Amino acid sequence: MENIIINGGRPLYGNVTINGMKNAALPVICACILNEEPCIIDNIPPVSDIEILLDILVSMGASVQRLSKTSVEINCKHIIPCSSTNEMAVKLRGSSYLLGAEFGRFGKASVFSPGGCSIGARPLDLHMKGFEALGATCGFKGGRIEVESERGPIGSSIYFDKVSVGATANMILASVLADGVTVIENAAREPHIVDLAVFLNACGANITGAGTSVIKVKGVEKLHGCRYAIIPDMIEAGTFMAAVAATSGKVTVKNVIPKHLEAVSAKLEEAGATVIVGDDYITVESNGKLKGVSIVTQPYPGFATDMQPQFSAMLCFAEGTSDVVENIFNSRFLFTDELNKMGANIKVDGNHAVIRGGAALSGAPLFCHDLRAGAAMVIAALASEGESTISGIDKIERGYYDIVGKFEKLGANIQKKEVKTDEQSYTSLSV
Ligand code: UD1
Repeated sequence: MENIIINGGRPLYGNVTINGMKNAALPVICACILNEEPCIIDNIPPVSDIEILLDILVSMGASVQRLSKTSVEINCKHIIPCSSTNEMAVKLRGSSYLLGAEFGRFGKASVFSPGGCSIGARPLDLHMKGFEALGATCGFKGGRIEVESERGPIGSSIYFDKVSVGATANMILASVLADGVTVIENAAREPHIVDLAVFLNACGANITGAGTSVIKVKGVEKLHGCRYAIIPDMIEAGTFMAAVAATSGKVTVKNVIPKHLEAVSAKLEEAGATVIVGDDYITVESNGKLKGVSIVTQPYPGFATDMQPQFSAMLCFAEGTSDVVENIFNSRFLFTDELNKMGANIKVDGNHAVIRGGAALSGAPLFCHDLRAGAAMVIAALASEGESTISGIDKIERGYYDIVGKFEKLGANIQKKEVKTDEQSYTSLSV
C-alpha cells in the first residue's frame, strides 16, 4: 500500500508532457479483437486500467508484445470469444467494450458486469438496446452479460435516448463487420469516439460522421493491421491546468489538442487565470487569485464530468460563490466531504453543489473514492497549507501516469510513501 504525501502551498512552474488518453486507448485496444492481423498502438498511457485490459486480452488468447513503455503490438487472430474471467472484467468499466468487439467479430459475446469508478449508477441498458437492434439476444447469466445472434450483427438504425460514450463505442465496434449499414443517432461526440473511428478506418472500416451526433457504419468484410497513435489525454491535461490555477504559477501542458480543452480553457479564463493556446500546447498562468464560476457538466463539447471534481477543488480557492451542477453521474460529489475536512465550504444538494470559496484550507488525511476525486484531492492538497496524506491512491493510478513525478518536476512537495497495512486504518474506516 502506498499513500501520497503533499506539503502544499508551493507555486507550480515548468512544463508537463501529457500521456495518451486512457478512455481512448480502452476501446481502441478492444477494437483489435475485430482484426485478424496485428496492430501496433502507440501513445498508450502506462496506467493500471490499460495493463488490466491488456492482461484480459492475453488471458483470452491474444498475443500482446510490449515495444516500449507506450507502444504495444496486439494480435487477436487466435482470441477466444466469451473467455474473459469475472475477476478481471470486474476491475474496469472499459471491459464493457469486449461485448461490442466480441459480438462484432464472432456473433457472440459474454463479459462479467464491468466495474469502474464508484460515481453513481452505470447501467448498460443502452448498450443492450443497441445490440438488440443489430439482431442480438441479450441477457444476464451468472452475473455475465451475454449477447448472441446466429447470423452475426446485421446493420440497423439505433436511436439512443441518452448520449452515452460507452454505448456509442460499443455500437461502432459491433457494426464494423456487420452485414449492411448501421446508423447511430444521438451518438456521443467525444474525441475518444472520433479516435476509435479513425483507428478502425485506418484498418479498413467504413465509418463516417464520428464527432457528430449521427454516425454511419457500412459493414466491411474484414480489417487489416495498422500502426496508430492514441490522442493525448484531455482530462490529464485539464487536471494540470486546474492545479496551476489553484496553486498559482505558470505551467505549459505539452502534447495536447487544444480544441479538446476549449471548455476547460474558457472556464479557467472566466475564473481569472491566463490561458495561452498554442498548436499542441497550452500555458496557464495564475497568481492564485481566482473568482467563483458556475459549472454545468454535459456531454462533449460541454464541460466534462471527468473534470468536475478537479474544478470543484480549484473553486474552493476562488473568491465568492460557485455553483456546480453534475448532470452525468448521480454520486459524483462524494469527494466534497474530504475537501470540507480541509476547511472547504461545499454544500451538496442532489446533483448541485454550492462552493463558498476563498478561505484558507489546511492539509488533512484524505481518502480517495475514485479516479477523478483522487485528482481533486491532489489539487486541494497542493494549494493548501500544511501536510495532506492521500490514501486509496490505486484509484488515481488507474488513469494518471506518474502524477507524483510530474507534479514534483513542477516544484510541488509531493511524494509517495509505502505504508504498512496497520497504518492504513484510516482507509478502511473511510470506505
Ligand atoms: C465514459 C468514461 C467516463 C466518463 C463518461 C462520461 C470510459 C471508460 N469512461 O463512461 O470516464 O465519465 O464516459 O463522459 O470511457 N447510461 C445509461 N445507460 C447506459 C449507459 C449509460 O443510462 O446503458 C447513462 C449513465 O448512467 C450516465 C450517462 O448515460 O448518466 C453517460 O454515461 P456514459 O457516457 O455511457 O459513460 P461511460 O461510457 O460509462
